[in-house]
Amino acid sequence: MTRNLIKAAAAAVLALSCAACTENKGTGIELLPEEAFAKTVDGKNVAIYTLTNSTTGMTAQLTNYGARLVQLWVPSTDGFKDVVWGYDSIDAYLNAGDKYSGPVVGRYGNRIKDGKFTLDGKEYQLTVNENGNQLHGGAGGFSTKVWDAEQFTDADGNPAVKMTLVSEDGEEGYPGKLTISVTYTLKPANELVIDYTATTDAPTVLNPTSHVYYNLHGTSSKSTDSHLMTIYADSFTLTDSELIPTGEIAPVEGTPMDFRTATAIGARIDTPDYEPLAIGKGYDHNWVLNKHFLVQSKQNDALKDGAYMAAQVYEPSTGIVMTVYTDQPGLQFYAGQGMDGKEIGKRGEIHNVRSGIALEAQNFPDAPNHENFPSSVLRPGETYTQHTIYTFAVK
Ligand code: GAL
Repeated sequence: MTRNLIKAAAAAVLALSCAACTENKGTGIELLPEEAFAKTVDGKNVAIYTLTNSTTGMTAQLTNYGARLVQLWVPSTDGFKDVVWGYDSIDAYLNAGDKYSGPVVGRYGNRIKDGKFTLDGKEYQLTVNENGNQLHGGAGGFSTKVWDAEQFTDADGNPAVKMTLVSEDGEEGYPGKLTISVTYTLKPANELVIDYTATTDAPTVLNPTSHVYYNLHGTSSKSTDSHLMTIYADSFTLTDSELIPTGEIAPVEGTPMDFRTATAIGARIDTPDYEPLAIGKGYDHNWVLNKHFLVQSKQNDALKDGAYMAAQVYEPSTGIVMTVYTDQPGLQFYAGQGMDGKEIGKRGEIHNVRSGIALEAQNFPDAPNHENFPSSVLRPGETYTQHTIYTFAVK
């Protein structure tokens, strides 16, 4: 299908889905065609799912390969923009150098030192995939799996897709057969809601997170250094030279890590002689969230089921404001410094250095090895839940 046909099809879908659309509803939205994702991977069918909300036409496309967000079209001051990185086919995702464009990562998001932890007196050795440590659940983690998917309309009439994965006992070294579901829902107030539930048949550790690279310019080619960032956190976790937390929680006060008032990402990212930024080659750290409730704000409507405001990002040139709410204790902010401009994404756009930011709501990295960090242990009979919301507005 040509791009124009896809555009026309998208416009038709949007026109059908809401008779009382605002005039610019659907403007510029380009959907990826189903055939670009129709493939059997590891004996399971991959597909793409399209969700459009009932009010503005905000549209998400997701694939069950890695329970992954592929596109997210949100309103800006100039039509709709796709604010997430990704590729335009399943083949491109399978061949991508960076495996973490848009998926749910796990079992354990971020790093576990030496891929080891002790639970109930028993030491477990996980697979290792970075400097002898485990990153994002290992080379065969959640992001590489084909999940079962079910698209549905929730009780409030919102479009949703539920992805489910069974992770076998011993997978990537983790104990327990784990069943995890992730539900993506688009709500009327331009909210992308991500809900997780998981159970296990033996004690294990778990820390799944959504690893999406956002760019509020609407293209992966433009630097995100101009984004104004607020993170509601008084402290962050210090790391060693391999980005593994030392266990020390440090105040942000007086450092380039202080985003308690909106500051351009690029303003201090290259601060010389500041060790945490030298180690991360930029921002690649876990902020300890304050559990900040903005009671005076209308956004407070989104504070459901214990999620609190974690961060806000604003790009002046498009007017897009993204606010992150979560019930998780930490937020990993990674500024995309590992990209080299060699990967070509959707619409032929280059994945440039520092042009996609990950804001990963999660437990702290390496928590299984630090008693002063929140517990990541999940036991039989318990249900893990996570509730994270990315909302979009135009300023
Ligand atoms: C982030 C991590 C970065 C990098 C990235 C994936 O969560 O903090 O160091 O590994 O994922 O490329």
